[in-house]
Amino acid sequence: MRDCRMSAWSLFDYFKFLKKTKKDVAIAIVMGVIRGLSSGFGIPVILKYSSSILFGDQVVDGVVLTMLALLPMFVMFVRGVSGFLSSYYFSACGQHIVEELRMMIFQKIQRLHVGFFNDCPPSELISRSINASTIIQSNLVDISLDIITQPMALLGAIGYLIYLCVEESDLVILLLFLTALPLFIFPIRKIGQRLRRKSGQMQGRTAEIINRLNHNLAAIKEVRAFGLEKQEVGSYRRACHAFSDAFLKVIKYQLIVAPLVEIVSAVGVGFAMFYAYERGLKLEVFMSLAMALYFGYDAIKRLGDISNKIQTSIAAVDRIEAILNEPEKIVDPRNPVCVGKLRGDIAFRDVVFSYAKNREVLKKINIEMAHGRTYALVGASGAGKSTFVNMILRFYDPDQGSICIDDVDLREMAKADLRRNIGYVPQDPALINDTIFNNITWGKPGASEAEVIEASQKAYAHDFILQMESGYDTIIGESGNCLSGGQRQRLALARVFLRDSPILIFDEATSALDSESQQAIYRAIKNLANDKTIIMISHRFSMMSIVDEVLVFSHGRIVESGSHGNLLAGDTLYRKLYEKQQVIET
Ligand SMILES: Nc1ncnc2c1ncn2[C@@H]1O[C@H](COP(=O)(O)OP(=O)(O)O)[C@@H](O)[C@H]1O
Ligand SMILES: [Mg+2]
Repeated sequence: MRDCRMSAWSLFDYFKFLKKTKKDVAIAIVMGVIRGLSSGFGIPVILKYSSSILFGDQVVDGVVLTMLALLPMFVMFVRGVSGFLSSYYFSACGQHIVEELRMMIFQKIQRLHVGFFNDCPPSELISRSINASTIIQSNLVDISLDIITQPMALLGAIGYLIYLCVEESDLVILLLFLTALPLFIFPIRKIGQRLRRKSGQMQGRTAEIINRLNHNLAAIKEVRAFGLEKQEVGSYRRACHAFSDAFLKVIKYQLIVAPLVEIVSAVGVGFAMFYAYERGLKLEVFMSLAMALYFGYDAIKRLGDISNKIQTSIAAVDRIEAILNEPEKIVDPRNPVCVGKLRGDIAFRDVVFSYAKNREVLKKINIEMAHGRTYALVGASGAGKSTFVNMILRFYDPDQGSICIDDVDLREMAKADLRRNIGYVPQDPALINDTIFNNITWGKPGASEAEVIEASQKAYAHDFILQMESGYDTIIGESGNCLSGGQRQRLALARVFLRDSPILIFDEATSALDSESQQAIYRAIKNLANDKTIIMISHRFSMMSIVDEVLVFSHGRIVESGSHGNLLAGDTLYRKLYEKQQVIET
C-alpha cells in the first residue's frame, strides 16, 4: 500500500458528507461571519466612537454614558454567542465527516481480498483508521473555530482601515498593511509543505508503535519462554523514540508560524506609531487603528495556523486514501449467475496459482470432486493444501485455469452466494469475546437453542460446555484465550455444523484434538455427509479409512489419488508418508 499525494483542494471532496447536515453548516457559517466582523470591524469602531465622545470636549449625559458602557458588553455578547455557535456547529460537521471516513475505511476493509492482508499489517490499518481519523477530527475542530471567523476578521479590519483612510484622506496605512501581506504568506506556505511531509512520517511512526505493541501482545508466551523481554523493550523504545523525533519536527514547524507573524506585525505597529506622530493623529483614531491592525495581524496568525492544520490533515487523508484507493481484486461479476443452494460438485481445471510472481504454489491442478463424497487432503506442509481449499472459497482467483462448482465458474457467481454454500473451519479458528452460544450462532444468526445444542453434540462440544460455569452463557474472553486449543476447535466445528452447508471444508480443524474424539468427530461428519461434499485436510492417517478418496499433494501438485486401501497397496508416496507416521507413533 503506497501513500497517495493529494492536493488541498481534494479535501473538499469530503464535504459531500455534509449534505445531510446542511442546516448545521449554514448556522456555523452565518455565526462565523458575525463573530469575525464583530471582532475586526465592530471593536475598532466602538473604540473610536466611544473614546471620541468620552474624551471629547462636550459634556456627556447619563443616558449616553450608560449606552456607551453597554456597547462593549453588547458587542462582546454577540461575539461570544456567535463564536460559540459557529465552533459548535463546525465541530459537529467535522465530526460527521470523520464518522463517515471511519465507516468508509471499515467498509472498504470488508471488501478487500484476503491477499491484501498478507502484505498489510493490521497495525498499519489500525493506525490509519483510528489515528489518522483522530488527527483529522481534532484538526477539523481547531480549523472550524477559525475558518470563517478569521478571514472575516481580516476583511473587517481591512474594511475599517479603508474607512479610516477615506476619513483621513490618506492611503499610507492601508498600503502598508497590504504590502506586508506577502511577507506572511510566503513563509507560511513553505512551512506548510514541510509540515505535511513530516506529519506523514510521524503518522507512519505511530503505526510502528502499534505494530510493536501488537506483535509483543500476540507473542506473550514466546517472549517469556525465550527470555526476549529486554530485546522487546529495546525495540519498543526505538519505535517510541523515532516517534518523538518525528513529533518534535512537526511541532517545530507548527510553532514557528505564530512568532514569525508577531515579529512582522510588530514592524507594522512601529510604522503605525511613527505615522501617527508624523500626521498628528488623535488618540481615539490611533487606538482604533492599533486595534484594527491587531485584529488584522491576529487573523493572519491564526490563518497560518489553519494552514498548518490543513497540511497535517492532508497527510492523514493521504494515508486513508491509500486504503480507499486499494484495488479490489476479488470482485463480484456485473451479472452474477444466480445460484441458490449448490449441489457441491467441484472441478479444478488446469488451475495454476502463485502468491508471489514466479513461484507457483498450485501447478496445473485438475480434479473433480463429487457431492456425497468425503475427501482427505494429505501431504507435507507447504505442499499447497490450504491454498487449494482457499481457492474454493474464492479467497484468491487462479492465475490460469478455472474452478467450477456445479459447472459454474466461481468468478461468475456472487461471492456471498458462493460462501453461503460453504462451511469452513480454519486451523486456528477465530472466536469472539462473547458467550459460547453467540460464538456458535455466529455462522447462523437467529438459530434456536435446540439447533445449537444439536450442533454442539455433533462437534463433541456439548459436554465440556455444560461443565463450564454458566454453560452456553459463559463468556469466553478475548479470542477464547481461556479455552484449550481442542475446545476452541470444537466450538468452531459446532459453528459450521449449525450452518448445514452443502460443502464442508476442514483445514486441520481437529489437529488439537486427541485421536479418540477426532475419530468420533469424523464419524459424525461422515454421517452428516449424505449429499454433501466434504474436504478434510489432516495429518492423521487413522481417519483416512473412513473417507472415500485421498488426494496426495506434493509441491503444488496432486500426485496420487484413490482410496486409503488402494493407495497403501501400491508403491506410493502415500505409503511412504503413512509408514513414516507409523514409525513416529510407535
Ligand atoms: N499468504 C501467503 N503468501 C505467500 N505465500 C504463501 C502464503 N500462504 C502460503 N504460502 C506459500 O504457499 C505454499 C503452500 O502453502 P499452504 O497452501 O499453506 O501449504 P499446506 O497447507 O499444504 O501446508 C507454501 O510454500 C507457503 O510458503
Ligand atoms: Mg495448511
